[in-house]
Amino acid sequence: MDQDLERILIGRDAIADRIAEIGRDIVSDLGSDCESDGIVLVPIMTGSITFIADLMRQLPLRVRIGLMTASSYRGAVVESSGEVLLEGDRLPDSLEGRHVLIVDDILDSGGTIRRVRQEIESRNPKSVRTCVLLRKKIDSAMGTPCDYIGFDIENEFVVGYGLDFDDYYRNLPDIGVLKPEVIEAHQAAEG
Ligand code: IMP
Ligand code: MG
Repeated sequence: MDQDLERILIGRDAIADRIAEIGRDIVSDLGSDCESDGIVLVPIMTGSITFIADLMRQLPLRVRIGLMTASSYRGAVVESSGEVLLEGDRLPDSLEGRHVLIVDDILDSGGTIRRVRQEIESRNPKSVRTCVLLRKKIDSAMGTPCDYIGFDIENEFVVGYGLDFDDYYRNLPDIGVLKPEVIEAHQAAEG
């Protein structure tokens, strides 16, 4: 696992510190406003599982969770297919009058956040905000409006802390870059 990483990009302590800051920002923006209306967190599965688990514990608010599943990278690839599929959700019956915070692991082409936001907005919530742990320093990501951003990173493929390569490595506690030979060997084995 860890030995498959070429290097660690963001360690677990830095991640934890930054999430505490983001939590404080969200609470100061939404705190009193959502006392009566509540806030619905919408983590995009599966990449944001680790992030949402840590982030929600930094939000001393009336929180509910609604899941949304989307995918744009499929299989043993390190580039987005560009096409975002919504594969179902477990949202509350109504979002009307609710504050919604969409949470994803990483902003890359921006397609996922745009598609999910569109779906949420069609359900008439009171407000919609977006939060990602990582944002790649590329035009498509930087040009996608997003309210809370953990870290801006270079345009490279990363794994760990929920982020996967062909569904592996999500359980790594740090965020890192895979050795090229690990990616090549996996792709060769998959044919
Ligand atoms: P977008 O729709 O292109 O913005 O991509 C967002 C989704 O692609 C994320 O939710 C991730 O699942 C996946 N993704 C993008 N970049 C990476 C990466 O570097 N590592 C792992 N998954 C990624
Ligand atoms: Mg994802």
